Amino acid sequence: MKSLKDILTQSSFSRDELVRLLGLEGEERTQLFHRASEVKNETVGNKVYFRGLIEFSNICSKDCFYCGIRKSNKNVLRYEASDEEILAACDFAFKNQFGSVVLQSGELSSPAFVDRVDRLLKSIKELSNNELGVTLSCGEQTKETYLRWRESGAHRYLLRIESSNKELYQKIHPDDSLHAFDKRLEALSLLKACDYQVGTGVMIGLPFQTTENLADDLLFFKKIDIDMVGMGPYIEHEDTPLYGHRQLLTSKQERFDLALRMVAILRLLMPDINIAAATALQAIDPAGREKALKVGANVIMPNLTPCDYRKEYQLYEDKPCLDEDAELCRNCLEARIEVAGSKVAYGEWGDSKHYFNRKIVKQS
Ligand code: 5AD
Ligand code: FES
Repeated sequence: MKSLKDILTQSSFSRDELVRLLGLEGEERTQLFHRASEVKNETVGNKVYFRGLIEFSNICSKDCFYCGIRKSNKNVLRYEASDEEILAACDFAFKNQFGSVVLQSGELSSPAFVDRVDRLLKSIKELSNNELGVTLSCGEQTKETYLRWRESGAHRYLLRIESSNKELYQKIHPDDSLHAFDKRLEALSLLKACDYQVGTGVMIGLPFQTTENLADDLLFFKKIDIDMVGMGPYIEHEDTPLYGHRQLLTSKQERFDLALRMVAILRLLMPDINIAAATALQAIDPAGREKALKVGANVIMPNLTPCDYRKEYQLYEDKPCLDEDAELCRNCLEARIEVAGSKVAYGEWGDSKHYFNRKIVKQS
């Protein structure tokens, strides 16, 4: 059997090797984390990029079994932030040199929704003299919509695959055309064709999920040549159908530990991509996101959603920063990132290096 030291110098891994890395404990796990941190510093550097997250609406047409804002959850007050509120949050991001914002919402595809996002994109570009980068996280849309939003200024798009295993995907989603796995896959390839920097990700520690599934998720990211990944622990939510399977879950601490290993291994597998320190990590451990930065992540998404709306955007239990306003969050994060030994890259877009590298490869 290969020694761990040898495996850790590789940049491609067999499924068995990934499964082995996902199970590391103690001193061996420390070696993995150490190597991931080295690879990160050598490739994307020690900077952390801020993306101000604006959860601008929780109205959703989907009914995913894990998600607290699913359509059928009647315990959620539905909201839509006004244009003024959204633009004020963007202005805060711009003035505080965040570099970019993420507009996230429930999934809608009505012409009114598509037009609204389009208008917002143009306004954000205007208020920031084209300087603020904009990422969208608004679910599956048509190619036409993706193209339109791209033209209006969005340059990155986040759409998690949630699980790259079709069977598992089907277990955590309703069985209808709105939630079809193949459509999700197609959406990711459309986004790429529309020239976005594309981000995806999975939930870690789902009921029914095996370590092999997670190894396959990592290989999937590599296969589709993704530019950015955001992945965090699955956290049960009382008002969702998946809560009924909570007896199958490992402890939150175990899910957290597995998520950190996933981040570290992904940094070895895809050294030049952007990896976000998922907010869900912080729901389990107050220093969770900073821990992810130490083992390979390089992006963090401070929450800029107007405070009144935050309690209605609870995708999972114990979602952090429900009361802290944007200013508090910024100061708190900056201090914590510096404690974690990294520097915040103010005023930079922090694009995925991988996006540019893959374009060079394609041209040559
Ligand atoms: N636990 C963890 N992550 C969740 N998400 C949704 N519900 C949960 C949950 N219960 C994640 C999904 C989605 C992202 C916006 O939030 O991966 O893509
Ligand atoms: Fe939100 Fe600290 S990160 S208050």
